[in-house]
Amino acid sequence: MTEIDQASKIGEIIEAYPADQRFALAALQDMQHAFNFIPEEGLAALAEYLGCPQAQLYSMATFYKALSLTPKGEHIIKICNGTACHLRGAMNLATELKRDLGIEPGQTTEDGAFSVELVNCLGSCALAPVMVVDGNYHNKLRVEQIPGIIESYAEGVTDHD
Ligand code: FES
Repeated sequence: MTEIDQASKIGEIIEAYPADQRFALAALQDMQHAFNFIPEEGLAALAEYLGCPQAQLYSMATFYKALSLTPKGEHIIKICNGTACHLRGAMNLATELKRDLGIEPGQTTEDGAFSVELVNCLGSCALAPVMVVDGNYHNKLRVEQIPGIIESYAEGVTDHD
């Protein structure tokens, strides 16, 4: 997306809402959805439109986990690091992902294909360790399965149900 396209999309998102601070979160969510993150320009434009300090929107964007101020990858990999998964080797999964993708939790690959996140319990403790890619659960995961899983997402084969 060019800068001009981005600016016009930001304008479109913002103007879809009344200039009322109650709609700030909805507009931020729409930007997250449109760009996969919230661009700095989006925060500035929304602050101006709503007549509120940009810092207020910044706090909102950092508070809500679904919002991100840095671009996220096309595929989001979540490694559960809750107690059960941690005890069953969640960090070994993170180490393998680092070997395969070259990124730590909290980072995105340079080509924008993958982001890795460490998250709290995903509610499938009996199936630990758990990794979720684009919403698909990979349960009782073994380290040696990871390269194949990554490859399938990289190739666009995402039917893991
Ligand atoms: S600790 Fe990982 S699913 Fe509960």
